[in-house]
Amino acid sequence: MPPGKSTIASDVDSLFNFILYGSTVLFLIVVIGMIYFVVKYRAKEKDKLTSGVSHNLKLELLWSIIPTILVIIVFFWGFRVYLKMYVPPRDAYEIKVTGQRWSWVFDYPNGATTIGELNVPRGKPVKLLISSKDVIHSFYIPDFRIKMDALPNRYTVTWFEAPEPGGHNLFCAEYCGTSHSGMIGRVNVLGEREFNDWLESSASFGEGLSLEDYGEQLFTQKACVTCHNINGKAHTGPPLNGIYNVKINMADGSLVLSDENYIRESILNPQAKIVAGYQPVMPTFQGILNDRQIDALVAYIKSLEKK
Ligand code: CUA
Repeated sequence: MPPGKSTIASDVDSLFNFILYGSTVLFLIVVIGMIYFVVKYRAKEKDKLTSGVSHNLKLELLWSIIPTILVIIVFFWGFRVYLKMYVPPRDAYEIKVTGQRWSWVFDYPNGATTIGELNVPRGKPVKLLISSKDVIHSFYIPDFRIKMDALPNRYTVTWFEAPEPGGHNLFCAEYCGTSHSGMIGRVNVLGEREFNDWLESSASFGEGLSLEDYGEQLFTQKACVTCHNINGKAHTGPPLNGIYNVKINMADGSLVLSDENYIRESILNPQAKIVAGYQPVMPTFQGILNDRQIDALVAYIKSLEKK
């Protein structure tokens, strides 16, 4: 297992190891005993019958009572860790997590939004309020030993506290369609100062950057890059280079001129026009991007040349 990097990790690992080593010992006792008896009491002569042993009370009590005690230990131990994992502390910092095909969206209390990248302060409990926009996903951070389903029409909750700064992998652990394996991300545990600086700058919406440069930043930050190439090659979605001001074939047979309004509509209402040869799977970015961010993405896409 990867090294545990949250306050709950050692509890989960101790219980896991107890079950793993306990099962290994029992497995060995049963299998070695079985092999020993098979060899020792094999039929040596054709008509010699074995003695008619019926039962042994001491042995039977032993192999009933010991496993029962072990199972009870696992139950109470597991229940204690479970409660600790699923009841977030009162003062936890709350972040809204939304799963959608095929990215993770994070909403922070100050209005900042990130996609595919979760920034958290170190040494502080973080509560995650999780839901899904479409199908069932599963929010999974192996280093923190937490995994929680993301369900449409229902909230689920989990929490963690990461004592050290660092980066960790984040996965979707529930098969959710074509790009399930691409529904990944990073968790960045930042020092308190660094985290507050980031929070502040994230609310500035690319101030001081040209629209094109800000758009380039957003293209990665908002996970457009998960489904769209800019090198002319098809991905889950069509490539986005060299598409400005040309006529594009749609799935319904029509021909559409891709101007600024077409690009904007495709971001906010992706199902309105589907490019021929692609599936209508893009989620809407309505409510995720503000006007300046949409302008920036349009400016960036316009700047991408045909290859
Ligand atoms: Cu989302 Cu798999």
